[in-house]
Amino acid sequence: MKRKIIAGNWKMNNNNAQTKELIKQIAPLVKDAKCEVVVCVPFTDLDAARRAVRGTNIKLGAQNVHWAPKGAFTGEISAEMLLEQKVQYVIVGHSERRQYFGETDESVNARAKAAIAAGLKVIICVGETLEEREAGKTTEVVVRQTNAALKGFEKIDLKKVVIAYEPVWAIGTGRTATSQDANDTIAIIRKAVRKLYGKTAANAMRIQYGGSMNAKNAAELLAMPEIDGGLIGGASLKAEDFAVIVNSAK
Ligand code: 13P
Repeated sequence: MKRKIIAGNWKMNNNNAQTKELIKQIAPLVKDAKCEVVVCVPFTDLDAARRAVRGTNIKLGAQNVHWAPKGAFTGEISAEMLLEQKVQYVIVGHSERRQYFGETDESVNARAKAAIAAGLKVIICVGETLEEREAGKTTEVVVRQTNAALKGFEKIDLKKVVIAYEPVWAIGTGRTATSQDANDTIAIIRKAVRKLYGKTAANAMRIQYGGSMNAKNAAELLAMPEIDGGLIGGASLKAEDFAVIVNSAK
């Protein structure tokens, strides 16, 4: 049985004290979770978060990673550095990175590969913009992004990969994809994985939905057969809301 995975993407929010407090509030509310629970915090909060999740079922995640082990890459963080902070998961290719920081299919692939080679698990984000959706290009975009992100991966690496389908138009807008739409696009992504790695690997792969998932709509989304979890932005910053989402992942 595949275990669902609910990950909070805190984005650029919370200082050390707020990190400690939020995790302290979340922990008792999710202690009986049936799914995997991850919080992806800003780099500067990793140390505080690492201490706060100790002894809980919450796993630590980061929001980006560089492809090189070290070197002249100002402002970047390596996989080794994340491992030193006991990070287990790292988000790669979030649409905000693609939109605002020049992340490409190639750099997403390079980051994901390096992270996996170092021993991290990755949450690779894919998803179409509103413009692409309205032009009928959703399938083309998510298949291209999925193929590119997984380029050069061995089948065994896939065990360390989670894909997050995050339609860009649904992120931070309060406009969620319908559960049927999210389910169907995730099925398309899974089909792309199946073409590359076969049925068993594709079925075993966890594919999350992300984009305005909240305490109200989570249960319906997470009940869909293709949706194996959620990547949560805004609602992951409120302990009660995040816990409701976690606890609706059965
Ligand atoms: P929101 O849940 O705030 O829409 O953000 C989704 C997201 O981008 C998670 O990575």
